[in-house]
Amino acid sequence: MTTKLCVFDAYGTLFDVAAAARVAAAEPGRAALAAVWEQLSEDWRRKQLEYSWLRAVTGDYVPFWQVTCDGLDWAMDRAGLSEDMELRERLLALYWELAAYKEVPFMLAHLQARGMATAILSNGSKDMLEGAVDSSGLRTSLHAVLSVEEVGTFKPARAVYDLVGQHFDVTPEEVLFVSSNGWDVAGAAAYGFRTVWVNRAGLPVDRLMAQPAHILPDLTTIPELI
Ligand code: LAC
Repeated sequence: MTTKLCVFDAYGTLFDVAAAARVAAAEPGRAALAAVWEQLSEDWRRKQLEYSWLRAVTGDYVPFWQVTCDGLDWAMDRAGLSEDMELRERLLALYWELAAYKEVPFMLAHLQARGMATAILSNGSKDMLEGAVDSSGLRTSLHAVLSVEEVGTFKPARAVYDLVGQHFDVTPEEVLFVSSNGWDVAGAAAYGFRTVWVNRAGLPVDRLMAQPAHILPDLTTIPELI
């Protein structure tokens, strides 16, 4: 089956979600964060995701920006940093300009040169995604930025993967779906997309609905799969 479209998850896949805490921790006057930034970053991401799934299950959807703020508040509380409002604002501001992984611009340019359509499909709020896409200079490398905001729930709900067929004239088998989140890849594979799991951390495969078709250590060789 010919691949007509490459769809990328955003956070953790194209954009490095650890960058916000890492960058802030390296700034002057941030000794308290520097001591705990890795744990804080991990807690922030885990709570952000848990809150998104729980709100999807219960039908209490709020924009991803809200679960991002709520997850950070939990993580800062655990780290004993919840009084530091200036730090909270700084970390949230950095989330709007997360760095893309270093191989991303070249990989997208390579896909574009081969005439491949490309898109983001993300739980992120539309404005958050636009901010990250612009600040990392990826605007002209992507044909579409699709946000779950249109359907009011979160991946891995099937209604979110439906957005791809609503915006592009493709069947699921013609889509190469790329994510570093095992649960997202499982949802996308069960939906019928051909999937790539980007396993930067060398983790075991998730025991979920379906397995990834391909597993890669980073995004460098994505163009070879089309
Ligand atoms: C995304 C997050 C959940 O959908 O990784 O971009």
